[in-house]
Amino acid sequence: MNFKSHLDEFEVFKKVAKAAANLGIETYVVGGYVRDLILKRSCKDIDFTCVGSGIELAKEVANQYDIHVPLSVFKNFGTAMLKLEDLELEFVGARKESYRSDSRNPTVEIGTLQEDLERRDFTINAMAISLNAANYGELLDPFNGLSDIKKKLILTPLDPNVTFSDDPLRMLRAVRFAAQLDFDIDGDTFHALSENAHRLNIISGERVIVELNKIIQVKKPSYGFKLLFAGKLLQEFFPEMVELQGVDSVDDKSHKDNFYHTLQVLDNVCLMSDDLWLRWAAILHDIAKPATKRFNSKVGWTFHGHEDKGARMTPDIFRRMKLPMDERMKYVQKLVKLHLRPIALVKDEVTDSAMRRLLFEAGDDIDDLMKLCRADVTSKNNRKVKRYLENFDKVAQKLIAVEEKDQVRNFQPPISGEEIMEIFGLEPSKIVGDIKEEIKEAILEGKIHNNPVQAREFMLEIAKSKGLSPVLDRPNS
Ligand code: CTP
Repeated sequence: MNFKSHLDEFEVFKKVAKAAANLGIETYVVGGYVRDLILKRSCKDIDFTCVGSGIELAKEVANQYDIHVPLSVFKNFGTAMLKLEDLELEFVGARKESYRSDSRNPTVEIGTLQEDLERRDFTINAMAISLNAANYGELLDPFNGLSDIKKKLILTPLDPNVTFSDDPLRMLRAVRFAAQLDFDIDGDTFHALSENAHRLNIISGERVIVELNKIIQVKKPSYGFKLLFAGKLLQEFFPEMVELQGVDSVDDKSHKDNFYHTLQVLDNVCLMSDDLWLRWAAILHDIAKPATKRFNSKVGWTFHGHEDKGARMTPDIFRRMKLPMDERMKYVQKLVKLHLRPIALVKDEVTDSAMRRLLFEAGDDIDDLMKLCRADVTSKNNRKVKRYLENFDKVAQKLIAVEEKDQVRNFQPPISGEEIMEIFGLEPSKIVGDIKEEIKEAILEGKIHNNPVQAREFMLEIAKSKGLSPVLDRPNS
């Protein structure tokens, strides 16, 4: 196979080839760019391997341009990077040993192209395109990566035990590529992966979460999670999710398998949104079911309070998994906590105040919460599914109507704490907070409308019952 015409389309390859010729060193395009080119996927990172110094080559490439090209040199790793508009070019000399720039032991020996390719993770990532005059554009494929792409197969170039011990993160990468490309993992490679799964414990949480999030961001992440589970990798870093798996039966009554249910919810949510954090909410929505599971001979299996306990578990899981402990965690936590509430609003007799309370608590995340609830409908019975989804349509309509009337979704107190202090001549104190809270409660309950006039009237009433009077009404003021 020859990619000369592809190379000719892009200035960058001409410049790199010219720089390499000037220095007299063999140079190749390698790794993900070659794989993605064959798969017709777009790729903005181009890795170049040369039989010589990657840093010298990068400098010479920068010299080829009339414009200034930002260059970063990582001396310890023998790599250099150039930023060219939206492209990132990485240059490295061919290595004998596992060459990862972020590996714990980056000291490596200079090697040939063949030696470099064989220490890479998968055959589909171990192909190179020549930039050398003798065979410009030719595909070099010593491990039959092209044929594995055609077979849709992930396998390692060497004995998988060697490849995985060079960098155990590759076990997660195997699953990630399988999930992204919808490929299978070869039997021997998968066997080695499950045998070596425990070695994931030497990998930092930060690297693990990057791969996991990539798995979560594919079109249908359930496949990746099933591979992680079957390969015993999930057990290494996400035991709470593993706990969801399994079905208990008592007196012929069994509950559903919450692992597969969660995966179905996750896939469903992916049809509605690309948002990583909504996907995390789907993953965690039932996470406390194992911890809250009880059997009751009258009603069967119950999971009372799993939404609250799940919300309490969320920060610990985020912290341990090196996920961000900021508003994104709060968002996931909120959705986990509220995920049963819209179902409770289906009944006709539900009051507006219940609607207002949900709008108040969910705020701008109400639409995402409704998506999660719809995704949570995983019955196999199509009639039931239809009925449940229609019920959610009704709830959504009612929510819109109540919001139009009362605007509590982005609730702003109609009277501020400062105003309350000024009116009653108070210093900052608990009573100010109490009055604000009572006004908010009255609005949510529907006793008064959400406007300053009614709020003020109500405030004066409750203040009176607390023995307070406005400063202006007092005889000596
Ligand atoms: N590589 C490897 N082992 C790793 C990471 C990377 O062998 N643990 C090799 C592979 O040949 C890979 C190349 O380094 O193709 C570049 O790595 P990276 O940029 O992480 O991955 P890509 O394959 O480019 O894919 P993506 O951009 O989707 O991560």
